[in-house]
This record gives sequence, C-alpha cells and structure tokens, in this order.
Amino acid sequence: MEGLGAAAPRYRRGRTAPAGKVDGTRERLIETYRRKAKRYDVTSRLYPVPGYPQRGQRLRAVGALGLRPGDTVVDVACGTGLNFALIERAIGPDGTIVGVDLTDAMLAQAQARVERHGWANVSLVQSDAAEFEFPGELDAIVSTYALSQVPECANVIARGAAALSRGGRWAVLDLKVPARTPGWVARLGTASVRPFASIEEWVGRRPWEAIRAAMQSELEDLSWTELCLGSAFLVAGTRGAQTGEPSPVHSERGTARGATPQR
Ligand SMILES: C[S@@+](CC[C@H](N)C(=O)[O-])C[C@H]1O[C@@H](n2cnc3c(N)ncnc32)[C@H](O)[C@@H]1O
Repeated sequence: MEGLGAAAPRYRRGRTAPAGKVDGTRERLIETYRRKAKRYDVTSRLYPVPGYPQRGQRLRAVGALGLRPGDTVVDVACGTGLNFALIERAIGPDGTIVGVDLTDAMLAQAQARVERHGWANVSLVQSDAAEFEFPGELDAIVSTYALSQVPECANVIARGAAALSRGGRWAVLDLKVPARTPGWVARLGTASVRPFASIEEWVGRRPWEAIRAAMQSELEDLSWTELCLGSAFLVAGTRGAQTGEPSPVHSERGTARGATPQR
C-alpha cells in the first residue's frame, strides 16, 4: 500500500501486497474509495438507490450474528465503520471489534468514528481481505456490501470460518442481481454502484453464487435470505463440529443466551 501515497495511518497495517505489486483492479478500487470516503456516510444512504432500506438490512446482518457481551467480531471490508455502533450495542465495552479494509481513506473515516464515540475496543487493520490473517477463536465475522467486490471471496469465507470458535457465526450481506433480470437491466441497475470495476465482470461473475456456495461448504446451520425483491441477500452460518452434524454449541448458545439468528 505504501506505493499508493497514503498519509500516515493511525491504524495497523496487515499483510498486503508489497509496494508496487497492487494489481490494477485493486488500485482503481482504492482510488475510487479514496474519492468517496469523506462523503461515504451520506452518499451511502442513496446506495444502491435513494430510499433503499440499508439500515434495516444492516440490523438484520448484525442480528444474524447472535452477539453477546464480550464477543470478538471481525468486520471484513468495514469501510467507514457503519456497522460498528450496531455491533458495539451488542458486545459492550468488554467485547472487541477488528475492522479490516483495503482503503486507507475509508479507515481514516472509521478511525474518526471510533474517536467520536470514544470506543476503546476497536482496532483497525489496513489489509486486503484476501490476505488478512484472521485472529483465532473469533465469535463472529460480518461483511456488508463488500465481499462481492473481492474476487477471492470464497477463500476469505473459508479462512474466516476456520478462525471462528465452535458456535461462532459468519454473516454476509451484499447486493445481487435479482433472478430473471435481463442482462441489460442488471447492467443499468448496477452501473451506479460498481463504478470501479467492469459491470459486465460483476454481473457475469455472479459473486453471490460463489459466496453462497462457500458459506454452504464451510459452515452449518446455513440461512439464505433474499432481501428487497432479490436485489440483496443475507447469508449466515455457524462454525460447527467437523462431522457435519448441526452444531450443538450453537443451539446452546441461542437457547441459553437468547440469541435469535435471523432467517
Ligand atoms: C461499499 S463499501 C462497504 C463498506 C462497509 N462494509 C459498509 O457496509 O458500509 C466497500 C468497501 O470494501 C472495501 N474493499 C473492497 N475490496 C476489498 C478487499 N479486497 N479487501 C478489503 N477491503 C476491500 C473498500 O475499500 C470499501 O471500503
């Protein structure tokens, strides 16, 4: 990242591609989010269209984690930290949030949010999600409106799942193209929200399918919910016993502590 001229960060740098080795697609993505970062909290309210129920979807995604006070949560591609307040409310001061993002300017906004709220339990790491080394024994991992931008999303899901403790939860909320949408409508609809990459590539790659398949193969107790006429999805699952049996730990967790995974 050093090669990209970032200002001195107040967050930790994780393992990223060496300076000068960031590929062109990621470099464009970083530049795009650098331009958006300062106004992201306002402009994201128009994302993907004005009036889109983004906050309601975030609530569902964080709710799907079944968090408890003291939990440790990784927010993958956390951006400016729009999920942090929702997570903080559930984990309290004894919990921990690790926010990971590729773009320095988005993390700078996240850092400003952390300072405004006086949260002492948030650490921010600048890293490509594809290279981030998840800390072990996590209680939960969440990623909102971001993982479909990461070509290695299946690998990120697998490595995240391996870092969860038994009963830990992984939830991904992201946009998708509704089923039976003609290609040209999909391209038009996503043009405003995917300016950094080829729309053709995103629509053609159908990343939501790879995300669903990876969640299915790495986790148990999977739920897949299409939101807002199929324009978004929430997929969530539990790290269970390796036998493939439904995790008794998760059942215990839900019952004993009143967690209500969203379906
Ligand atoms: C649309 S924003 C979403 C931010 C935040 N998750 C939210 O819900 O508001 C997408 C974010 O993904 C980050 N991002 C994209 N590709 C990434 C990657 N490979 N590794 C880490 N972060 C990435 C961008 O820097 C940007 O902050």
